[in-house]
Amino acid sequence: MTVPLLKIGVVLSTMAMITNWMSQTLPSLVGLNTTKLTAAQGGYPDRSIGVLPANPEESWQVYSSAQDSEGRCVCTVVAPQQSMCSRDARTKQLRQLLEKVQNMTQSIQVLDQRTQRDLQYVEKMEVQLRGLETKFRQVEETHKQNIAKQYKAIKAKMEELRPLIPVLEEYKADAKLVLQFKEEVQNLTSVLNELQEEMGAYDYEELHSRVSNLEERLRACMQKLACGKLTGISDPITIKTSGSRFGSWMTDPLAPEGDTRVWYMDGYHNNRFVREYKSMHDFMTSDNFTSHRLPHPWSGTGQVVYNGSIYFNKFQSHIIIKFDFRTSSISKSRQLDYAGFNNAYHYSWGGHSDIDLMVDEGGLWAVYGTNQNAGNIVISKLNPNTLQIIKSWTTNHPKRSAGESFMICGTLYVTNGYSGGTKVYYAYSTNSSTYEYIDISFQNKYSHISMLDYNPRDRALYAWNNGHQVLYNVTLFHVIRSEEL
Ligand SMILES: *[C@@H]1O[C@H](CO)[C@@H](O)[C@H](O)[C@H]1NC(C)=O
Ligand SMILES: *[C@@H]1O[C@H](CO)[C@@H](O)[C@H](O)[C@H]1NC(C)=O
Ligand SMILES: *[C@@H]1O[C@H](CO)[C@@H](O)[C@H](O)[C@H]1NC(C)=O
Ligand SMILES: *[C@@H]1O[C@H](CO)[C@@H](O)[C@H](O)[C@H]1NC(C)=O
Ligand SMILES: *[C@@H]1O[C@H](CO)[C@@H](O)[C@H](O)[C@H]1NC(C)=O
Ligand SMILES: *[C@@H]1O[C@H](CO)[C@@H](O)[C@H](O)[C@H]1NC(C)=O
Ligand SMILES: *[C@@H]1O[C@H](CO)[C@@H](O)[C@H](O)[C@H]1NC(C)=O
Repeated sequence: MTVPLLKIGVVLSTMAMITNWMSQTLPSLVGLNTTKLTAAQGGYPDRSIGVLPANPEESWQVYSSAQDSEGRCVCTVVAPQQSMCSRDARTKQLRQLLEKVQNMTQSIQVLDQRTQRDLQYVEKMEVQLRGLETKFRQVEETHKQNIAKQYKAIKAKMEELRPLIPVLEEYKADAKLVLQFKEEVQNLTSVLNELQEEMGAYDYEELHSRVSNLEERLRACMQKLACGKLTGISDPITIKTSGSRFGSWMTDPLAPEGDTRVWYMDGYHNNRFVREYKSMHDFMTSDNFTSHRLPHPWSGTGQVVYNGSIYFNKFQSHIIIKFDFRTSSISKSRQLDYAGFNNAYHYSWGGHSDIDLMVDEGGLWAVYGTNQNAGNIVISKLNPNTLQIIKSWTTNHPKRSAGESFMICGTLYVTNGYSGGTKVYYAYSTNSSTYEYIDISFQNKYSHISMLDYNPRDRALYAWNNGHQVLYNVTLFHVIRSEEL
């Protein structure tokens, strides 16, 4: 039962953070700290939603959201210096501030959507739990006289589940609160609109930089909330059946909104033609594609498309090439020092899969084996522009006995094999430089996986399974701490 408990915890903590941010930060941002309402200076009317503080030094409050050393989101309040600005400038400033607030509201909605999957899970579980409880009561009624061993076991199970019920109640209360805060944000936005004509003076430059800063940190916070530990892999969905037994396919996690172009590379050996499908829909329904000829053939299936470029391992070498699809040219090429190649340290399925490139929330990574690390997996964080190694981690997991591996939120997940029953069984966290054995099985529908990569935009795993292109959803969640709730 620890997994569902944690999952609810995550939903609750996410809710709590959104709630916290909305109730504390946002009002400050728009100058609505009710405990600070005072008569306005300089002849401005004392509006019930005053934006001017008692003390001119304090000016209006802008808030800031940050991550503390533990990675939690914390909110602080800062007060910019006051200065005199022209009325027109102030109006413009306020308009921009308003836009920022609106943008942040949108960000919150995005965050909300991202947690929807978790919420659905909780709701489904609640139904199951209540059903079980009812059934249990019925059993209890009819079997009063007949307490068999089996029955005792059910009872024990129910006892185990019962503490979840108040947690579910709490979750529902929080969900209601979030709705209420959303409405409040809308109200505040319209208030801010009205206020445009009657703004007090403030230092725009500083205000602007603080708001930008807030935006940046909010984004980091959201990323933090969206990140977490892998706890489940859904059943696969077969998107298409095409190509040989080996290959790779993907979408670009940094593609602009609405761009779902699919990139497709059939084969692991001495091929150089990349197919581009206009959209995921086109990929699923047609064989209409554009072909890109790379200047060099590739090795393995470790390619990745990231921000409009494909990164791949040049055939029979340990050179990584960044090829920009926009300009159809190589924008960078660099040797990955010490990396084994030509089947020195392939994944268990072979196929020159020595160097696996991948992208997660944190950026671009290379996974490979080296002699120096006795053929065990080395993880390197790469600069996507220069292809230089930013930092490397050496693991104790032999590259050749890994089925495949993929990176989520800075943790490398390794599977036990490419055929038969597959599971993710080893996880190396680059954050803490520690590993652990886990057990997350997933369906290997067509019995031969030659590529498995995470896409942080879709929160999905892309796999090439024996001439089938399949997708899996993943369930992630961050570890809860009671102080987050
Ligand atoms: C509002 O102002 C009071 C009094 O200065 C302060 O203690 C409190 O932290 C402020 N709240 C927010 C959310 O800024
Ligand atoms: C990194 O690890 C520390 C300690 O294990 C943890 O508190 C922190 O949240 C982790 N950060 C990320 C981004 O996972
Ligand atoms: C708000 O978001 C829109 C669209 O993403 C962007 O064009 C605009 O510059 C943003 N405004 C501010 C003030 O950040
Ligand atoms: C938002 O404004 C409407 C209409 O003015 C009001 O009925 C509602 O209570 C307000 N909601 C909140 C959360 O303040
Ligand atoms: C194939 O795609 C091209 C451009 O991407 C388009 O011009 C053409 O009409 C498409 N053909 C079919 C049959 O969809
Ligand atoms: C993506 O590419 C664009 C255009 O080349 C660049 O401006 C932007 O900084 C890149 N983003 C990342 C995260 O590398
Ligand atoms: C993943 O989840 C989304 C949203 O719930 C759903 O639309 C999609 O079909 C799922 N994909 C897989 C592979 O299960």
